[in-house]
Amino acid sequence: MRCLVAGCGYVGSALAAGLAAEGHEAFGLRRRPKGLPEGVQTIAADLCDAATLAAAIPPDLDAVVYAVASDARDPAAYRRAYVEGLVNLLARLPTPGPRVIFTSSTSVYGQDDGSWVDEASPTLPPRETGRILLEAEAALSGSGRDFSILRLGGIYGPGRTRLLETVRDGTARLPAEAGVYTNRIHRDDAARALDHLVKLPSVDPVYLGVDDDPAELSEVLRWMAGRLGVPEPERSAAETAAVTGRGLRTRKRCRNRQLRASGFELRHPTFREGYDAILTAGI
Ligand SMILES: NC(=O)c1ccc[n+]([C@@H]2O[C@H](COP(=O)([O-])OP(=O)(O)OC[C@H]3O[C@@H](n4cnc5c(N)ncnc54)[C@H](OP(=O)(O)O)[C@@H]3O)[C@@H](O)[C@H]2O)c1
Repeated sequence: MRCLVAGCGYVGSALAAGLAAEGHEAFGLRRRPKGLPEGVQTIAADLCDAATLAAAIPPDLDAVVYAVASDARDPAAYRRAYVEGLVNLLARLPTPGPRVIFTSSTSVYGQDDGSWVDEASPTLPPRETGRILLEAEAALSGSGRDFSILRLGGIYGPGRTRLLETVRDGTARLPAEAGVYTNRIHRDDAARALDHLVKLPSVDPVYLGVDDDPAELSEVLRWMAGRLGVPEPERSAAETAAVTGRGLRTRKRCRNRQLRASGFELRHPTFREGYDAILTAGI
C-alpha cells in the first residue's frame, strides 16, 4: 500500500512508522520534516501553498491521512490548517483516488450536561474552532471520495504528559465541581485506529477516537498521584478552566462503540494502562 500522511507530526509519525515497518510505502509530509521515523519517505511541503503542492504529492496513492494540526488556537490558524490545507490537497488528488481519512476532534460536540455522545449525536460546537473543524469535515464528506473522519479525544503519550507533570510538581488541582470528564486516547492507539481505517475494506463516515473510559478528571488526577507516590492534588476553588489550563470544561462522555464494532482493539483501554506504560518505560 502507498499511504501519504499529510501533517506527519506526533500521531502521523507513529502511523507512518508503523506502516513503513510493515513494508508499506509511507510518505510523511510536513513543512519542516526533519527527523521523521526511519523508513518514512520525507516530503517537505506546505499544504496551504497551492502553487507548489501538486508537485509534492506522490502518484498512485491508496490512502491519504490528513493529520495536520493548527499552529495556534485562533480561528484564522484553524481555517488555514484544517479547511484551506485539506481543500488544497483534495483538489490535487486524482478522481477516483485514494481513501482520505481526516483527524477531527471531539470538540465538535457541545454537549455539556454529562451526557454520552457518539457518531449520531448532534454537533453544536460552542467555539468557533469547533465550527471550523465541522467545515473541514463537510468539505471532505462533500468531495465524493471514499473517506472517513476520526474525531479524536485528547491525545497523550510519550513526551505528551503535561497533566502527569502537573500532578508531579504539585500544581494540579481537582476540579471544584463533579462531572468534569476527560475523553482521551493514547497516541499509539490514535495511530493504530488510523491504520485500521486505512486498511478496512469499507469505512463509515465518522468514528469517535477515544478510549473506553471517559473518566472524571478528578479520578485521573488522584490515580496519577497514587501511581507517582505524591500527595493528592487539592481541590480548586477556581473554575475548571484554570485546572485544565486549556479553557476546556468537558462535561460530555464520548463513546467509542462504533470504532470497536469495526474490529478495532485498543492497546490502552483506559488512562491507567496508557499512563502506566509511559511511566514504566520512563518516558
Ligand atoms: N492533540 C490533541 O489532543 C488532539 C485532540 C483532538 C484532535 N487532534 C487532532 O489530531 C491530529 C494529530 O495531532 P498531533 O498531536 O499529531 O499534531 P502535531 O503533532 O501538531 O502534528 C501536526 C503536523 O502538521 C504539520 N503541519 C501543520 N501545518 C501544516 C501545513 N500547512 N502544511 C504541512 N504540514 C503542516 C506540522 O508540521 P510542520 O510544522 O513541520 O509543518 C505537524 O507535524 C490533528 O489533526 C489534531 O487536530 C489532536
